[in-house]
Parts: sequence; structure tokens; C-alpha cells
Amino acid sequence: MDFQLKQPQSEDELERYYELRWRILRAPWHEPRGSEVDNIEDQCFHIMATDANKVIGVGRLQYNSTNEAQIRYMAVDDSYEGNGIGSIIVNALEQEAARTKHNLIVLDAREPAVGFYEKLGYKAKQKSYLLFNSIQHYQMIKHL
Ligand SMILES: CC(C)(COP(=O)(O)OP(=O)(O)OC[C@H]1O[C@@H](n2cnc3c(N)ncnc32)[C@H](O)[C@@H]1OP(=O)(O)O)[C@@H](O)C(=O)NCCC(=O)NCCS
Repeated sequence: MDFQLKQPQSEDELERYYELRWRILRAPWHEPRGSEVDNIEDQCFHIMATDANKVIGVGRLQYNSTNEAQIRYMAVDDSYEGNGIGSIIVNALEQEAARTKHNLIVLDAREPAVGFYEKLGYKAKQKSYLLFNSIQHYQMIKHL
């Protein structure tokens, strides 16, 4: 599959980046547009995969401390799942973590995504929170 990886830069790209995040991670639970954004976006590293001009995958890295970074808001358009896009996004986030000298990556995986992260070398530590009263999350970690 032929797709490109880039950091969203223009307003239009950022808008389409957030739209996919919302559509995959919020809309199915009837959460309004805007609920997909938090207040530290401008301090984070963002990456998206595009097919022609369409945003088909997104992911974010935030910095928790001098050595710990956190992957959040991973989403792949459902019609593009299973093509390696999620893995390439995680790889890009890991590269950015390594470049900025963060050697521990943590994340809270939705239960159905635990197997995806395990394939990429993450280990599940423990149950973490329950989102929207229904989606169990598991804390996972990887040392780079
Ligand atoms: C989880 C998600 C990001 C994976 O993206 P993807 O592009 O489909 O993943 P990839 O194609 O890179 O898959 C990589 C490997 O993990 C496997 N995999 C993917 N999803 C999996 C899952 N839910 N459980 C177990 N294995 C999975 C793939 O089969 C593939 O294995 P292979 O290398 O042996 O072929 C995507 O399915 C998604 O957006 N899901 C809905 C939102 C979500 O749950 N986001 C994560 C929130 S924590």
C-alpha cells in the first residue's frame, strides 16, 4: 500500500488530522467534535499517514518527563486497517522519542488494541482506566 507519513503543518492538515482522531476514537461513543483535543496539543509531536490527500492514520507523542514519553490518540481509518499503517506510525513516534532522548514509552491501550502493541514489543502491565464506562484500558510499556 502506498501512503505517505508527515507531520500536520497547515491549519487544514491539522483539522483533517483531528477529524480522523475524532471519527475513530470519539464519534462511535457519540462524543462531540472537539472532545478529541486536549490542552497540551501544541507541546506534542504529531504524525499522520496520507493516501493521496486523505488522512488515513494519526498518532501523537507527549513528553511526561525527561526520559518518559507517552503514545496517545492512535487511530487508523477502518477501511485501511491491517496494512501496516498503525505500525509505521508507532515506529515514527518511537523514532521521535529516541531522537529526543526519551527511552521509556508508556501508553494506555484499549483492550482490543493490546495485541497490536504486543506485536510492536510493548508489555501490558496492568488494567488502567475505563473510558466512557465501557472501554477497558491496559497500561503498556516499552524500553527503547
Ligand atoms: C489499533 C490500530 C491503530 C492498528 O492499526 P493497523 O494499521 O490496523 O495495524 P497494523 O496493520 O500496523 O498491524 C500490525 C500488526 O498488528 C496486528 N494487529 C492489528 N490490530 C490488532 C489487534 N487489535 N489485535 C491483535 N493484533 C492486531 C496486525 O495483524 C499486524 O500483524 P502482522 O504484522 O502479523 O501482520 C487500528 O486498528 C485502530 O485505529 N483501531 C481503532 C482505534 C484504536 O483502538 N486505537 C488504539 C487506541 S489505544
